[in-house]
Amino acid sequence: MTRTCPFVVGIACFAILGCVTVVQSQVTLEVTEGNSTCIKAELSASFSITYDTANGTRTVMVPLPGSAVVGVASSCGGDGRSPWLVALFGDGHALGLGFSSNDSLYSVAKLTLQYNLSDVSNFPEANSTDVVTVETTSVGMVARVNTTYRCISASPVIVGGATVTFSNVTMEAFMTGEDLSPNESVCTADQSFTTAPPPPPSTTTAAPAPVPTPPGTPSQGSYSVSNSNGTVCLLARMALQLNISHFSASQNKTIQEVVNLLPNQTTSSGSCDPTSATLVLTQANATNLSFLFTLNSTSNRYHLTGLSVVAAWSDMTAPFNTSNSSLDYQRGSLGRSYMCISEQTLVVDQNFSLNTFQLQVQPFGITRGQFAQAEECQLDQDNMLIPIVVGAALAGLVLIVLIAYLIGRKRSHAGYQTI
Ligand SMILES: *[C@@H]1O[C@H](CO)[C@@H](O)[C@H](O)[C@H]1NC(C)=O
Ligand SMILES: *[C@@H]1O[C@H](CO)[C@@H](O)[C@H](O)[C@H]1NC(C)=O
Ligand SMILES: *[C@@H]1O[C@H](CO)[C@@H](O)[C@H](O)[C@H]1NC(C)=O
Ligand SMILES: *[C@@H]1O[C@H](CO)[C@@H](O)[C@H](O)[C@H]1NC(C)=O
Ligand SMILES: *[C@@H]1O[C@H](CO)[C@@H](O)[C@H](O)[C@H]1NC(C)=O
Ligand SMILES: *[C@@H]1O[C@H](CO)[C@@H](O)[C@H](O)[C@H]1NC(C)=O
Ligand SMILES: *[C@@H]1O[C@H](CO)[C@@H](O)[C@H](O)[C@H]1NC(C)=O
Ligand SMILES: *[C@@H]1O[C@H](CO)[C@@H](O)[C@H](O)[C@H]1NC(C)=O
Ligand SMILES: *[C@@H]1O[C@H](CO)[C@@H](O)[C@H](O)[C@H]1NC(C)=O
Ligand SMILES: *[C@@H]1O[C@H](CO)[C@@H](O)[C@H](O)[C@H]1NC(C)=O
Ligand SMILES: *[C@@H]1O[C@H](CO)[C@@H](O)[C@H](O)[C@H]1NC(C)=O
Ligand SMILES: *[C@@H]1O[C@H](CO)[C@@H](O)[C@H](O)[C@H]1NC(C)=O
Repeated sequence: MTRTCPFVVGIACFAILGCVTVVQSQVTLEVTEGNSTCIKAELSASFSITYDTANGTRTVMVPLPGSAVVGVASSCGGDGRSPWLVALFGDGHALGLGFSSNDSLYSVAKLTLQYNLSDVSNFPEANSTDVVTVETTSVGMVARVNTTYRCISASPVIVGGATVTFSNVTMEAFMTGEDLSPNESVCTADQSFTTAPPPPPSTTTAAPAPVPTPPGTPSQGSYSVSNSNGTVCLLARMALQLNISHFSASQNKTIQEVVNLLPNQTTSSGSCDPTSATLVLTQANATNLSFLFTLNSTSNRYHLTGLSVVAAWSDMTAPFNTSNSSLDYQRGSLGRSYMCISEQTLVVDQNFSLNTFQLQVQPFGITRGQFAQAEECQLDQDNMLIPIVVGAALAGLVLIVLIAYLIGRKRSHAGYQTI
C-alpha cells in the first residue's frame, strides 16, 4: 500500500576536517493506494528541538534522515478523512503532514511531529523517556489544485517547542497523474529567485570570468521577533555579510563569494521559548539565515548556539545549505543585550562564515520592546582601551613636561635671587 524510495544527496562533508555540519538528506516519500500515487514529496527537513535535562534545557538540531520511510498511518483519505503523509525515522520519531483542499487550492492543514526522548543519540541527558507529540495548523504550504508545490528556500514551521525547517521541497497531494505535475505553485520565498531571468546562453567566446568585487561594508538592519500575543521577544540590529565557498556555474570552479545582506530586502521571523529563541532572516533574492540562541537557566546566561544558511544565488549550480548547532558566540547575561560594534567573524564551517558589524542583539528578557543595557564584546573593549591608553600616556607626558618646567623655573628663579 505504501512505498518509499529514499536517497541521500547531502552536503559534501569532509570527515577528515572534523565536520560538524548537519547533513541534509533529500528524501522522497510516496503514498499510494492501489496502483495510483496520491501524495508524493521530495524534501529536506531538519528539526530544532528543545527538551529538559537534569541541569536545564537543551536544544538539538536533528535532520530528517535519508532512511525515513512512509508509515502505515499514511493514507490517501476519502470517506471524509484527510490524506496524510507520515514519515517515520530513527527510534520512534515521526513527521506527519495532513492535507485539505477545496476546488482551487490544497494545503498542509496540519503538521505533527513526534519525537522519542529515549533516543539518547539525538537527545543526550534527557531527563524524560517520553514520546512527545506536538502539532500545528499554521504551516503555510498552499498550492493550486493539480500543481506541484515547490519551495527551495528554507521555510521554518513552529510546532510546540520545536521548529521544523523544510527546504528544497517539491510536493503534490490530491495527485491525478502518475507523477508530479509539471505545473508548479512556487512559494513566495522562492519567487524572486525563480522569476529572475534565466542565465544567458553561454557564448562560445567565453567572457573573462567576472572578478568578484568586494561588496563594501554592509548596512545595518533592525529586526525583531514577536511571540503569539504580539509581544516583542527578540531584538537585533546588525549589519551582516555572508562569506560562502561554493561551486560557481560561470567559472566552473569553487569560488569564495562575499555578499552583504540588504536590510531593505530582508524580512525577519522566528520564535521565542523560555530557553531558546530563533531569528530567521530572509532576503528576497534567496538567502535565508537562521540564528538559534539558547539560555542556560542555571547561570542566566545566553549565547548563540546555532547558525544555518540556505542561499540560492544566481551563480550557484545548486542551492547552498549548511548549519552548525554547536557554536558558542555572542555570550550575554539575561536581562542585558549583547553589543559588538567591531567586525566579528562567526565561523560556521569550512564553507560558510558570517561577518557581523555594528551588532546589538537581545534574544531574551525584553521589556517594553526595547534593548536593555548592553554588554560590550571584548573587541569593542580592546578598541575602547587604545584611545584611553594613548590619552592617558599623553596626559602623563604633558604633566611631566609641566613639572619639569616648573622645577626648572623655580631653580633658575632661585639662581637669580642668590646674585
Ligand atoms: C494495477 O495494475 C495492474 C497492471 O498494470 C493491473 O493488472 C491491476 O488490476 C491494477 N490494480 C488496480 C487495483 O488497479
Ligand atoms: C549535569 O549534571 C550532572 C551531575 O549533576 C553532571 O555529571 C553533568 O555533566 C551535567 N551536564 C551538563 C551538560 O552540565
Ligand atoms: C525534568 O527537568 C525539568 C527541569 O529541568 C523539570 O521541570 C521536570 O519535572 C523534570 N522531569 C522529570 C521527568 O524528571
Ligand atoms: C524509543 O526509543 C527507545 C530506545 O531508543 C526504544 O526502545 C523505544 O522502542 C522507542 N519508542 C518508540 C515508540 O518507538
Ligand atoms: C479555497 O480555500 C482558500 C483558503 O483556504 C480560499 O481563499 C479560497 O477562496 C477557497 N476557494 C474556494 C473555491 O472555496
Ligand atoms: C484537476 O485534474 C483533474 C483530472 O485531470 C480534473 O478532473 C480537475 O478538473 C482538475 N482540477 C482543476 C482545478 O484544474
Ligand atoms: C505574552 O506572552 C508571554 C509568554 O508567551 C507572557 O510572558 C507575556 O506576559 C504575555 N503578554 C501579554 C501582554 O499578554
Ligand atoms: C569544467 O572543468 C572541468 C575540469 O576542471 C572540465 O573537465 C569541464 O569540461 C569544464 N566544464 C565546462 C563547462 O567548462
Ligand atoms: C536598498 O538600499 C540600498 C542602499 O542601502 C539602495 O541602493 C536600494 O535602492 C534599496 N532597495 C530598495 C528596494 O529599496
Ligand atoms: C549552565 O551553567 C552552569 C553554571 O555556569 C553550568 O554548570 C552548566 O553546565 C551550564 N549548562 C549548560 C547546558 O550549558
Ligand atoms: C539580488 O538581486 C539584485 C537585483 O534584484 C541583484 O542586483 C543582485 O546581484 C542579487 N544578488 C545575488 C546574490 O544574487
Ligand atoms: C534539491 O532536490 C533535488 C532533487 O529533488 C536534488 O537534485 C538537489 O540536489 C537538491 N538540492 C539541494 C541543495 O539539496
